[in-house]
Amino acid sequence: MKELAEKTAFVTGAASGIGLGIATALAQAGAKVMLCDIEEAALSEAVVQLKRTNVDVDSVRADVSLKTELQAAAEATTARYGKVHILVNNAGVVGSGPYGTWTDAAWNWTLGVNLMAVVWGIEIFGPLIERHGEGGHVVSTASIAGLISGSSIAYNVTKYGVVALSEGLRLDLAPRGIGVSVLCPGFIRTQITSSGRNLPSRFAGAFREPPPTTGPLAEARARIRERVAQGIDPTYVGELVREGIENDWPYIFTDNEFEPFVEMRFAAIKQGFNNIRGRTPKR
Ligand SMILES: NC(=O)c1ccc[n+]([C@@H]2O[C@H](COP(=O)([O-])OP(=O)(O)OC[C@H]3O[C@@H](n4cnc5c(N)ncnc54)[C@H](O)[C@@H]3O)[C@@H](O)[C@H]2O)c1
Repeated sequence: MKELAEKTAFVTGAASGIGLGIATALAQAGAKVMLCDIEEAALSEAVVQLKRTNVDVDSVRADVSLKTELQAAAEATTARYGKVHILVNNAGVVGSGPYGTWTDAAWNWTLGVNLMAVVWGIEIFGPLIERHGEGGHVVSTASIAGLISGSSIAYNVTKYGVVALSEGLRLDLAPRGIGVSVLCPGFIRTQITSSGRNLPSRFAGAFREPPPTTGPLAEARARIRERVAQGIDPTYVGELVREGIENDWPYIFTDNEFEPFVEMRFAAIKQGFNNIRGRTPKR
């Protein structure tokens, strides 16, 4: 999509951080933007602030981990703007903790917001984008943790899922004139480390115990908080996403910090192939 002016975008998790950065960049490029989020007050405030710059934006509240609410948000978007061209599946939560702290509720919350909402977003908005024949673009926010896995396993599972979904979908949607990108950010200065503020009540009991205040886990959490607090400006990420949409980038990265770790993973996979190279599989 070379020309974003007068196109319509729907952005989830748009009340804060990366989503707000993306909504801002798209609106500044002349797109009409429907901001969607679970956090009503932050959403209204974001729209008030954006409207001060004379852009055409509106908002709809939805818990994207509920398909019916996402469907209703899509209906609100077409009622407000008619056509939709760009879908940004961005809402996300850190969710479940490391091995030993897992609960079904925390897994379901993480899977619901980070992965199933992306599946449903595509299911619901794909046909709306196809319908007008003007083409479009789908961007989904994974993470660098969608390419290298560490201890936040549930989070990483969902982010690997978003990468897999985007890679496959790119092939399916190209002949239909719809581009697909996956955003894999490093550390970005957002409110992601306080995602618990948006835990829907149906996932009550997700965390058996309060997080530790001392020990290695507490130290690791503190380090991540510090990296996020000192992270990249989400407005800059929004501008990269706009560039990614305009140029149909398959992967949108924010920086090169973790590139050596991705290379190490590729090397480990290659080693796996080398271990059995030259053998004839028994059939
Ligand atoms: N900040 C980082 O360092 C970083 C790095 C890699 C990936 N990400 C990803 O970026 C995306 C955006 O997160 P962020 O860092 O801007 O954090 P953020 O907390 O600032 O923003 C996330 C937004 O999603 C919304 N949200 C949460 N649950 C929701 C739900 N059920 N329905 C609708 N909206 C919901 C929140 O209200 C919030 O406005 C996430 O997918 C996250 O996993 C962030």
